[in-house]
Amino acid sequence: MRNTTGRRIAVCDIARSDQPIRNKITKAVRTVIDKGRYILGQELNVFEKEFAEYNGSSYAIGVASGTEALQLSLKALGIGQGDEVITAVNTAIPTAMAILAAGARPRFVDVRADTFNIDVALIEKAITRNTKAILPVHLYGKICDIKAVLKIAKKYNLFVVEDACQAHGASCGGMKAGSFGRLGAFSFYPTKNLGCYGDGGMIVTNNKSLAERLRLLRNYGQNTRYSCKIKGVNSRLDEIQAAILRVKLKLLDQLNECRIELAHVYARYLQEIVDVDLPSYGKDLQHVFHLYVIKCKDKDGLKRYLLKKGIETEVHYPIPLHLQGAFRELGYKRGDFPCAEGLAHKILTLPMHPALKTQEVRKVCNHIKDFYRC
Ligand SMILES: Cc1ncc(COP(=O)(O)O)c(C=O)c1O
Repeated sequence: MRNTTGRRIAVCDIARSDQPIRNKITKAVRTVIDKGRYILGQELNVFEKEFAEYNGSSYAIGVASGTEALQLSLKALGIGQGDEVITAVNTAIPTAMAILAAGARPRFVDVRADTFNIDVALIEKAITRNTKAILPVHLYGKICDIKAVLKIAKKYNLFVVEDACQAHGASCGGMKAGSFGRLGAFSFYPTKNLGCYGDGGMIVTNNKSLAERLRLLRNYGQNTRYSCKIKGVNSRLDEIQAAILRVKLKLLDQLNECRIELAHVYARYLQEIVDVDLPSYGKDLQHVFHLYVIKCKDKDGLKRYLLKKGIETEVHYPIPLHLQGAFRELGYKRGDFPCAEGLAHKILTLPMHPALKTQEVRKVCNHIKDFYRC
């Protein structure tokens, strides 16, 4: 569907966003092909160092996806069968799938309607004698109340593993997402603020022995070729993806700034609409707007109306995790997490990517105003 200027306005447009760096990416990929080394080579080695430095962490370990970054983080901490891991109920499905894949049980906690992130006031009630870790999610590009999470974790002697899969470059008090907990997990899924051209992920930590263990875990447990110390898997970030990510990491702050600017434009034009609630910022936080999510009246009507005007929107996420069939065995029911259930009816993700023009954001806002007739 096209809008009146002929261009469809997509929620995310990777080809358009990457157009200015196409030549650099092609050159980086060609360099890898010329060398003929595709797994655990120099590109990954250097990218891990560059990412760790960017993140303010001592070590970074490249893996095959964000899901595996979370799963291997839990495994490296010795978390598995019989253990429980606390996480937010409004998040991407893989957050909880990773906990299950590690052999542990996800214990969900409701989110806050203003921040969309885990409600820290409810965490203590979810702690049992089997709880081993809290896995907070920095949803949509904004760090959760991480200081409160760390305080609770310290009180109950729990690990903190951050799901920073949507928060590359987001910060709180000058510290970057992923650098607060024992381990931090990132996804490089193509639509992310830092995305590769396939699947990819990264784990960051300041703990040397955990970093060493993760390097074994991601590579069949091998310390040297054909000699394995522990049971591991095959989960490596490949050389082509690492080379692409090295090009894109250099631009991450600049591209995040573009998103922040566009968020200001949305706020300027939408603030007067009483039927629309804008994303909150929070003191000391740098929100990097992986997604621009509003709360609105008649969300489905607005979604249909915008689509007719050539504007795509999405819902992140339409079904809270406790109501997903795959997690039925956990024993939750409708009504257990009222805030997340309520949000699912109100949230709408508007177009947001670094190549979006101010003029396109204004157009989206004008159509939203027309819908609410203000
Ligand atoms: C919050 C969150 N956690 C985990 C993941 C999993 O990342 P991946 O798709 O790279 O496995 C994603 C990505 O979709 C995510 O958004």
